[in-house]
Amino acid sequence: MMNVHLMHNNSASNRPVLEVANLKKHFVIGKSFFGGKPLTKLKAVDGVSFAIGAGKTLGLVGESGCGKSTVGKTILRLYNPTEGSIRVLDQEISALKPKAMRDVRRSLQMIFQDPYASLDPQMTVGRIISEALEIHGLPKGQSHASRVKELLSLVGLDPVVANRRPKEFSGGQRQRIGIARALAVEPKVLVCDEPISALDVSIQAQVINLLQRLQDELGLTYLFIAHDLGVVRHFSDRVAVMYLGGIVEIADRDRLYADPLHPYTKALLSAIPVPDPDVEQQRRRILLRGELPSPLNPPLGCRFHTRCPFATDRCREEVPALVAVAPGQEVACHYWQELRGVEGRPNQSILETEK
Ligand SMILES: Nc1ncnc2c1ncn2[C@@H]1O[C@H](COP(=O)(O)OP(=O)(O)O)[C@@H](O)[C@H]1O
Ligand code: SF4
Ligand SMILES: [Mg+2]
Repeated sequence: MMNVHLMHNNSASNRPVLEVANLKKHFVIGKSFFGGKPLTKLKAVDGVSFAIGAGKTLGLVGESGCGKSTVGKTILRLYNPTEGSIRVLDQEISALKPKAMRDVRRSLQMIFQDPYASLDPQMTVGRIISEALEIHGLPKGQSHASRVKELLSLVGLDPVVANRRPKEFSGGQRQRIGIARALAVEPKVLVCDEPISALDVSIQAQVINLLQRLQDELGLTYLFIAHDLGVVRHFSDRVAVMYLGGIVEIADRDRLYADPLHPYTKALLSAIPVPDPDVEQQRRRILLRGELPSPLNPPLGCRFHTRCPFATDRCREEVPALVAVAPGQEVACHYWQELRGVEGRPNQSILETEK
């Protein structure tokens, strides 16, 4: 009997709650009033695929400008996708009309990097949260005021703060208010877009701990966006590394940190400081040359070739596909096998590529 239950739970939790396939978001730049200047396409997201199981966290990591927020906003349909599929709880939402999307948003909410910008300064905290309840016609048979108090307690705030306005709170408290507002509609999936990047380092761990506790208590599924691999290490189940609109490597967390295969992943990993000073001193780093190229004019072939220390002529011509190379690990590099001995792991010698 016990086994039957376990099997049932396992199969249920293995079904993806959020699944995107070949997701593209191309922004059209420039206006051609008189049919003159041709419009340019900025390929902010250019064919991203991943799936996240119930109660799991996928970390989505990459430098500023690589398209992470656009992935999040397109999943929430704040932008219409140019192409591709978005499935939430087995429902295809990529082409839903705004009215139908309103119902889906009950399952799918977003937490933003700057909680202050996303909270109306004129409204009290109680109003901000009860407005979220009203938009979705919630809750049934329970007064908004008591639900607001419940939500504030849930995120570790004293319910008496319901009468105050956002400016009276610290950054960390504002982020808690943003989380309470997102949770008001009892979502299943939270897209967390760099929720701690704007906070003091001393506050960051508290917000991370809160998000982890809420995930455990409420069974939430997270897409957690960050710009470095350090932040997502401790609580992601899988990690996807993004570069110029595409995923270059995606793997189970332990695999990615123990055996990174893409040169970009290795470079990002070698940028994380190691606490042990002896190890830190002995490390050799893959240093990235130059800036992130513009997505208006991305490099041909492998998009990373202008900054990759291992690039060859083949890299400049042929796009490497994202392929499964080990259980739970996919990488987009022509030379992942050859470079496997050349690791970017901390505490192991790696190529010094600074020229
Ligand atoms: N609304 C928009 N219109 C045009 N370009 C945009 C828009 N939003 C983002 N971009 C561009 O898309 C690219 C990816 O941006 P973004 O998703 O914000 O990256 P990240 O969150 O990784 O920093 C950038 O080049 C950015 O300038
Ligand atoms: S395909 Fe070539 S340029 Fe791209 S990451 Fe691999 S070695 Fe570097
Ligand atoms: Mg962003």
